[in-house]
Amino acid sequence: MDRVFSGAQPTGNMHLGNYLGAFRNWVRLQDNYECVYCIVDMHAITTFQDPKTLHAQTIEAAAAYIASGVDPEKSVLFNQSQVGEHAELAWIFNCVARMGWLNRMTQFKDKAGKNREKASVGLYVYPNLMAADILLYKANRVPVGEDQKQHLELARDIAQKFNHDFGVELFPEIEPVIMGEATRVMSLRNGQNKMSKSDPSDGSRINLTDDQDTIAKKIKKAKTDSELLPAKAEDLAGRPEAINLVSIYAALGDMSKDEVCAQFEGKGFGDFKPALTELAVEKLAPVTNEMAKLMKDPKHIENVLADGAVRAKAIAAPVLAEVKAAIGFVR
Ligand code: TYM
Repeated sequence: MDRVFSGAQPTGNMHLGNYLGAFRNWVRLQDNYECVYCIVDMHAITTFQDPKTLHAQTIEAAAAYIASGVDPEKSVLFNQSQVGEHAELAWIFNCVARMGWLNRMTQFKDKAGKNREKASVGLYVYPNLMAADILLYKANRVPVGEDQKQHLELARDIAQKFNHDFGVELFPEIEPVIMGEATRVMSLRNGQNKMSKSDPSDGSRINLTDDQDTIAKKIKKAKTDSELLPAKAEDLAGRPEAINLVSIYAALGDMSKDEVCAQFEGKGFGDFKPALTELAVEKLAPVTNEMAKLMKDPKHIENVLADGAVRAKAIAAPVLAEVKAAIGFVR
């Protein structure tokens, strides 16, 4: 049976990129597959997190998942650190993955920057923990935004090498599921950069906690160009900010970029931005409101996560036992 696994880090405000690239797609998969959705708090600590903030952001991340439509009855929803098997399998994968593979990871290079020597070892082996997350559930479908593609290729290599080295067919082949018209949402301030939790400019992203006025202000200030919208999306080439806003509109409205262009052909951003604001508010207000409601009862969310962790462990423990047997550990 196909199983879906995905996760997000509780390291800051969840934003429109997380929603369109991930959460919304997770919700669409949960009726057809067995889904496991995780808040990856152990990935979060690869860079220092203030304990109180990490705790609060883990609760907020769970609220964001649920408010986006993840149903903790249908899907397994939990935070990674409650299921120790993730760390155990990650260690085993540290011994399977090769240095050369990790040296190619662009996200490590981006995050570590010039300060490579001062980056945590955890940040370097981050993709091995990510492979463990997925393979611990023998999940074969992983819905993510485009930025995670390279990590998933590495996870696939780890699964293959493990199967090959130990002569087993234990791990399935991982398939990235990259869905929709906004698989890489860019910053509202610079069409070359990804919309990200860690961008110091709050105006660069639309947070799932932003109210109507804030969304309107951010879209109004979003960087654009002075050209008009063309009839076809292919004619947006070379206009990264325009492509970004058209992609966001398309994803929110469940349309193709061509349909958006056909609707706004010959119009400038003076007309397009108010329409985008209206659509964004219409689609995001229910999520924002639900999140605010959920955040009023953090104890309830903690219970949901604890319950999810028990269900996750029930899947993970037998898989880890199989792995240990394959390796030859005395048990
Ligand atoms: P994270 O926390 O950076 O992001 C969570 C999800 O949101 C997607 N995403 C975006 N999609 C489109 N445009 C954007 N600007 C944008 N920003 C973020 C990400 O692609 C991701 O799907 N390493 C992962 C978390 C992780 C994971 C896993 C994912 C840990 N283990 C196992 C899948 C499977 C991460 O840091 O995501």
